[in-house]
Amino acid sequence: MSWAATVLTLYPEMFPGPLGQSLAGRALRERTWSLDTVQIRDFATDRHRSVDDTPAGGGAGMVMRADVLACAVDHVLERRPEAPMLVMTPRGKPLSQRLVRDLAAGPGVSILCGRFEGIDERLFEARPIIPVSIGDYILSGGETAAIVLLDACVRLLPGVMGAPTSGEEESFETGLLEYPHYTRPPMWEGRTIPEVLRSGDHAKIAAWRKAMAEADTRSRRPDLMERHGDAPRPSPSGARHEDEGT
Ligand code: ADE
Repeated sequence: MSWAATVLTLYPEMFPGPLGQSLAGRALRERTWSLDTVQIRDFATDRHRSVDDTPAGGGAGMVMRADVLACAVDHVLERRPEAPMLVMTPRGKPLSQRLVRDLAAGPGVSILCGRFEGIDERLFEARPIIPVSIGDYILSGGETAAIVLLDACVRLLPGVMGAPTSGEEESFETGLLEYPHYTRPPMWEGRTIPEVLRSGDHAKIAAWRKAMAEADTRSRRPDLMERHGDAPRPSPSGARHEDEGT
């Protein structure tokens, strides 16, 4: 059984989109994973096939109806009871590499994509749906967020990523941002590659990469560094800065 994704959306044409390209696209064609879409509008019951209505209490925009969405969600839960049902929303819990890893290790995922101002909250009281956000900004709908989540999961499926070890040291897997990368040419616009990377000394290279990962994480993501445990500050070049003391 391959890893199965089901996306509930008003815009099924947005899929597979970028997921049809590169590693995810090849894995999709090779049936390492599957992608089905469910058109939410097919579960509307009125003449106009409406899926939304004006917000209770007034205000801008429209709200997706709980009754229509529940029919679509039930349809998917019946067919894929083993897959967790997520909803992409800026009100959800932040997507993390840990959640991605957990989802990729399971049987697959079902994802409800919101549009308009939001979804009638009663849906989440009545059905087991996990709200997930991909960041503190507002997208025009959950579809692009679902594509982000699926891309992150699919690349972890067995056989999808080129080199089996290439995921182990990357950003977040170690709790830090990844170290910087370099390749040929050795001189570009007057800039060289750090000498240590050409030394052939694997222990020295590993120590330099660790130091760089910590330095970059400290300056770019102090929040991550705090969680990782702030170690004494080694200078990547081996030099010491004046503010470091002895
Ligand atoms: N839908 C709109 N904005 C979103 C976000 N930041 N994350 C997940 N789903 C969304």
